[in-house]
Amino acid sequence: METDKKAHFRKTLREVKTLPTLPGIVVKLTRMAEDPDTTTEQMGKVISKDHILAAKLLRLVNSAFYGFPQRISSLNNAIILLGFNVIKSLIISASIFEIMEEKDIELWEHSLGCAVVCSVVAKRLGISDPEEISTAGLIHDIGKVAIKMELPEEYEQINRMVQEQQVPMLDAEREILGLDHAEVGGWLAKRWNLPNKLVEPITCHHDPRLAKDEQLSSAVVHFANIVIRGMGYTHGDDIWVPPLSQRAYRLLGLTAVDIDEILGEIEDKLWDVKGFSLEIQAEQAPPQDNN
Ligand SMILES: [Fe+2]
Ligand SMILES: [Fe+2]
Repeated sequence: METDKKAHFRKTLREVKTLPTLPGIVVKLTRMAEDPDTTTEQMGKVISKDHILAAKLLRLVNSAFYGFPQRISSLNNAIILLGFNVIKSLIISASIFEIMEEKDIELWEHSLGCAVVCSVVAKRLGISDPEEISTAGLIHDIGKVAIKMELPEEYEQINRMVQEQQVPMLDAEREILGLDHAEVGGWLAKRWNLPNKLVEPITCHHDPRLAKDEQLSSAVVHFANIVIRGMGYTHGDDIWVPPLSQRAYRLLGLTAVDIDEILGEIEDKLWDVKGFSLEIQAEQAPPQDNN
């Protein structure tokens, strides 16, 4: 019986219906970014066809938490300065948080915060593609959005259990659904044809031992999620800070001095996250009638 229940939820979540798919443009741009013959102009042209995405992309590029020193005012400049791979990660981020920001502001701020920590840690470790890890951090909890939208009744039950029994949301999900948001997020990322570099850290962020090819980035996202929760960026009544995997911690090889400096750097950047989030919320508010 229990197995039937799990199979049922697995099936429902695999067939996500209400959650928007990634816009076709993302798939197209991802393909273009991988083609060595693609030119900056071609890429700029495709992005600028989607005005909202283009605006979001520029705002992201200029937001302090990505930390580019100069202001970037045109798409072509952004592409030349950042390169196709960074742009691809930014486009995925921009599209996904379009989905997230409307649905759950607390989760969104947690996710932005996690992306910040990922980027700071990745840079400290000298990882060559810190933006990719930031993107993984930004979307690591996307499975929660899927559960909320696809299984609203069960989502309510999960929240009730968290509140009444004071258990972490992850445990409540496993109890009620027989699976958790990390697994669900991993399926979703796969369904969106996102690269394994993003799929694995999402799937493994609560248990980095599961990672095969992307052990380091899974460890970074795992660590970042714990740090950001410890800094108070939690979700609803789920205020617990999950245990840190010793293996992941060893893999990161951070010293006490590293951690101290990382925390200092994050604190400054989190102000920017808050500002960025408020700015977007203000933009989403209905326009004032000035007549
Ligand atoms: Fe999570
Ligand atoms: Fe999280």
